[in-house]
Amino acid sequence: MDRSDTTPFALTPDLDAGIRHAAETLVGARRAVALTGAGLSVESGIPPFRGPGGIWTKYGEPPMDGYQRFLRDPAAAWRERLSPREDWMHALGEAVRAAKPNAGHRALAELERRGLLAALITQNIDDLHGQAGHANVLEIHGNHRLLRCLACNARYEPGAVDVDPEDLPPRCPQCGGVVKGDIVVFGEPIPADVLRGCYAAVAEADCMLVAGTSATVYPAAEFPYEVLRAGGVVIEVNPDESELSAAATISLRGPGGPVLTRLLEHAAALAETTR
Ligand code: APR
Repeated sequence: MDRSDTTPFALTPDLDAGIRHAAETLVGARRAVALTGAGLSVESGIPPFRGPGGIWTKYGEPPMDGYQRFLRDPAAAWRERLSPREDWMHALGEAVRAAKPNAGHRALAELERRGLLAALITQNIDDLHGQAGHANVLEIHGNHRLLRCLACNARYEPGAVDVDPEDLPPRCPQCGGVVKGDIVVFGEPIPADVLRGCYAAVAEADCMLVAGTSATVYPAAEFPYEVLRAGGVVIEVNPDESELSAAATISLRGPGGPVLTRLLEHAAALAETTR
């Protein structure tokens, strides 16, 4: 049973017609990609960053120079990581560790399995798309489980790098470079390999399905506009207006879980009729 906000979701005939139209658009697309944000994981119990109940709304946004601070003193940054003092780190960490994929993650994975989604770009660090079985996921802000070498960009599963609290920062087993958590912090450049993958996925797409983002953080927020500028279409799923709503070709007002599940149902039915 997915955790969601208290307001019961109503699939009105208007919204269902909009979802059906979105499904026709998705099934008719040459190459569709998805872009997701924190809103998609709200139904898994992880608060968003902005808006009502947002982590930054509650605790304030962290300083924008997180990366410069890390580079200035990586050992201190690692001591903070190993025993966080910031309340928001505790709140987000606990929610992410306890979270399980919800119906929205599962519907997107099924759309990929049916060949209707070529790639998925996520701003989320919670690993839930991977846990839902989604294969081609580009984690533009990193993954909370992994570590990354700042020199050679290698990523490591927990336990693959020796983290000795008496000898920080940990070093890359391959090149000896400084190792950091894979999460991209404020002020940090997006790792080149992931960014290249995102640009390639966006460049080839004629349809973008955008779910659960306020579309306020760049470069991810630019991607839907690139698809539109190239003559493609954008389908938005969000219970509230976002920065993207005015530009979106189709904007579906509802929570990710039920709306994406209904989108999958319509898409599957359409695929049946066109078979
Ligand atoms: N289903 C779909 N969307 C939802 C749901 C839901 N159940 N609940 C809320 N939303 C929407 C909100 O209306 C909002 O537009 O999700 C969006 C969440 O926006 P943000 O909190 O700003 O999250 P996001 O867009 O992912 O933030 C981008 O900012 O702080 C950085 O690195 C962080 O990746 C993050 C980036």
